[in-house]
Amino acid sequence: MHHNPIAIDDLSYAYADGTQALSHINLSIAAGERVALVGANGSGKSTLLLHLNGILLPQSGRLTVGEYPMQPEHLQAIRNFVGLVFQNPDDQLFMPTVWEDITFGPMNQGVQGKDLHHRCHHCLYAVGLDPERYAQRSPENLSGGEKQRVAIAGVLAMQPQILVFDEPTAQLDPRSRRQLINLLQQMPMTQLIATHDLDLALELCDRTIVLNRGELVRQGPTPQILGDQAFLQQHHLELPLSYSRPYCQLDHAPVQAKPAMSGV
Ligand SMILES: Nc1ncnc2c1ncn2[C@@H]1O[C@H](COP(=O)(O)OP(=O)(O)OP(=O)(O)O)[C@@H](O)[C@H]1O
Ligand SMILES: [Mg+2]
Repeated sequence: MHHNPIAIDDLSYAYADGTQALSHINLSIAAGERVALVGANGSGKSTLLLHLNGILLPQSGRLTVGEYPMQPEHLQAIRNFVGLVFQNPDDQLFMPTVWEDITFGPMNQGVQGKDLHHRCHHCLYAVGLDPERYAQRSPENLSGGEKQRVAIAGVLAMQPQILVFDEPTAQLDPRSRRQLINLLQQMPMTQLIATHDLDLALELCDRTIVLNRGELVRQGPTPQILGDQAFLQQHHLELPLSYSRPYCQLDHAPVQAKPAMSGV
């Protein structure tokens, strides 16, 4: 039997102070799909993503990740399966050096020696950080964009089957943003990306999901949704730049459906 790697059924969540952050969310994501999650500030994007690796547990409704229903006994397996990059890298980075931070996850998975070294070097390079310069730095002292890149490298180093990003380009300069887009484009795993960067969504994601005040108000092919100006305005979103400059040629290839991987 094939599972969708992410299946969410009637999920609702209210914070302790009574704020209803998610209401009756239904969503499934197929293996190998790249999906954008968009919506105004406070629409529930981060709250939804925090459910995907069990930082928040469903208060009502159901959530299945891979073949695991979201239950405390599956948390460890789920956290190896889903790599979540937090919106704020300070919530993610906690070791005294960049190297210790990046090796922490894979070491816990039992990776050691040369394999560990190669994997972590590779991931630092992948996010545009030279290990020679950065491995011994303290994450605390890095710039916002450097922190964000270390946080992404640390999650990549665990080689999860699902990548979940919360605003991955928020602090990146244009060149780092471009590198990250190219990197994600090459990665075959399932990706869910919460973002205000609608041009990134357009370039990278076949499908877009729109949240508004905790409700999933629309989902469909990204060009269709992000080309609907009236809808976007209604939900406090703006046209991607590449749609709002009519005389510019689109700087990305037409979005195509990727073949789904089987057997996840
Ligand atoms: N710890 C918390 N306690 C109470 N309410 C919270 C908490 N965290 C978030 N909220 C509320 O839940 C709602 C959803 O917040 P969430 O952070 O999921 O939004 P978001 O879509 O990620 O926003 P942003 O674009 O600003 O990152 C908001 O109304 C927010 O104020
Ligand atoms: Mg958020």
